[in-house]
Amino acid sequence: MRQFTATDTVVDLIESDYNTVPLLSRFSIPLGFGDKSIAEVCGEAGIDPDIFLFVVNFTLTGHLSLPDESYATGIVDFLLNSHSYILSYKFPHIRANLLAALDAHHSDINPAIVQFFDDYVEHVRKHFAYEERNVFPYVRDLAAGRPIATTYTIERFRIHHDRIAEKLSELKNIILRYYTTSVPNLMYDVLVDLFTAEKDLKSHNDIENLILIPLTQKMEDRKKAEKQ
Ligand SMILES: [Fe+2]
Ligand SMILES: [Fe+2]
Repeated sequence: MRQFTATDTVVDLIESDYNTVPLLSRFSIPLGFGDKSIAEVCGEAGIDPDIFLFVVNFTLTGHLSLPDESYATGIVDFLLNSHSYILSYKFPHIRANLLAALDAHHSDINPAIVQFFDDYVEHVRKHFAYEERNVFPYVRDLAAGRPIATTYTIERFRIHHDRIAEKLSELKNIILRYYTTSVPNLMYDVLVDLFTAEKDLKSHNDIENLILIPLTQKMEDRKKAEKQ
């Protein structure tokens, strides 16, 4: 998989791999690309093209090289944007499709499936809220060189950070293995939605674990060294 640069067009990027589409939505990049380059589209949307390219190339290739510390704030912005995209758009969209796909013949297990999904959304909401309250402000303060008022360290986050994508695959498996329906098309759509959401959440978690945490550790180490 090739690496993309700022002079490539956004349309080329999407055509080379449509898995970039959810990324574009998580960056809140508006449609109507024409022949615009990645640099132009990012400029118009107020996004740092270096951060955009870093996230895109990491997601597409899995190739990891820790970026400069100056990327930290932009990566936090992206993660925060992803939280609101997932909670305010993606999950309500999947829920509506799921309700429409339920077969009236299964009135016994339908409520349990909806409950499972709702519990999952609540779990993710809490996970995101913790990061928004504790982790992101801490990283922003470190990146801006502001004095840190708490004893919080990124190590605490690293230890407790759970894999939010996993529980979603349970729901997918229940539907895939045990849900019989005579009108399957809608449920197939839901399954595709669930696969995509699981992939998005996994890549979100990877960016937190493999980029945000080590980058923050680097800033903590530098701060400690400066004090000595
Ligand atoms: Fe997150
Ligand atoms: Fe997380």
